Amino acid sequence: MTETDPQTRSIRIQADRSPHKEHAVPVYLTSSFVFDDAEEMRAAFADELERPIYSRFTNPNVSELVDRMCVMEGAEAGHATASGMAAVFATFAALCGAGDHILSGRDVFGATHTLLTKVLPRFHISHSFVDLEDLDSWAGHVTSKTKLIYVETPTNPGVDVIDLAWLGAFAREHGLILVVDNCFATPVIQRPIEFGAHLSLHSATKYIDGQGRVLGGIVVGEQKLIDEIYTFCRSTGPALSSFNAWLLSRSLETLEVRMQRHSESALEVARFLETRGDVSGVRFPLLPSHPRYEVARKQMRWGGGIVAFTVTGGTRRGQAFLDALRMCTLTANLGDTRSIVTHPDSTTHAKMTEEERLAIGITPGLVRVSAGLEAAADIIADLEQALDRSR
Ligand SMILES: Cc1ncc(COP(=O)(O)O)c(C=O)c1O
Repeated sequence: MTETDPQTRSIRIQADRSPHKEHAVPVYLTSSFVFDDAEEMRAAFADELERPIYSRFTNPNVSELVDRMCVMEGAEAGHATASGMAAVFATFAALCGAGDHILSGRDVFGATHTLLTKVLPRFHISHSFVDLEDLDSWAGHVTSKTKLIYVETPTNPGVDVIDLAWLGAFAREHGLILVVDNCFATPVIQRPIEFGAHLSLHSATKYIDGQGRVLGGIVVGEQKLIDEIYTFCRSTGPALSSFNAWLLSRSLETLEVRMQRHSESALEVARFLETRGDVSGVRFPLLPSHPRYEVARKQMRWGGGIVAFTVTGGTRRGQAFLDALRMCTLTANLGDTRSIVTHPDSTTHAKMTEEERLAIGITPGLVRVSAGLEAAADIIADLEQALDRSR
């Protein structure tokens, strides 16, 4: 293919058509694939032939999705999983062993926090949380056992941003594997591998699907690391279903236009919220008031679709605000066509202690808005009436 634009190249990658030559590729809804003879079967298992064998580890729909994501992220290789958390766990488990240590940004998705603090210690994998705001402190947390750095940028739910160029250089200097959860930005906004990340990881459930239909996860990056993750997943089984891969792959074709619209609407929402006297700490990467505005401008093409802010009045007001919404949906997801509002303190991050929540800026009044694809004016009108009615 001679086209150079990643979106064009991604759209034009396609799994094989059936003899009917359908335009949208078929869903290869099958557990296994047939061999012509014993020799072909032997050669496939010996990796001498590149062809699907068994859908736990090879399926044309899953391969199409992975190939498309690799082009969009500028990655050598990738592997797709049943959910975002399966991708996070497979990455940690495949690349770290007993005794190893992970350096993680403090502000991470609630289940990732639980994985680091409750699950991995049972396998003798330890962690330190580091502050994205205090980069000078990072070197002091690196030990001879540190293997990997894990960050989200922007973070969920606080919408903090870390300087990826700084982080890439830091990882190189200390010989650490850098893994970036690129879920909030997606590759059309930010390509962490260009800044030195070894792996870029996604909950495909979010913007990659974009319509709140299916779960999925994907990790892309250096071939030799992906080989380890592939081996781990092949033998432990967190496979992405071919149907989900088919949907996710079709959704990638519209990712760029969707992210532009999400980002434009979220910026308008953030600007509106900054005008309100009963709201503080509005966080959106491309608001000049964001503490990492200059960094965000350097590494992000648009700001993404998520805005965080704090309503005055704590938990009671936060929940009253959610109850007063008329259009936006209350649901445990983000990155949908429909705008979604959540209250992290009482939901996704409720398993943390209050002290842990406050350390990453999750105040009792923190609200997260995922701006959907409705008209920005309608999203703002709903937020405005709910703020007014919940006072
Ligand atoms: C930043 C981030 N990473 C990982 C995940 C986990 O993804 P999943 O729900 O697909 O397992 C989420 C889910 O909200 C997330 O927001």
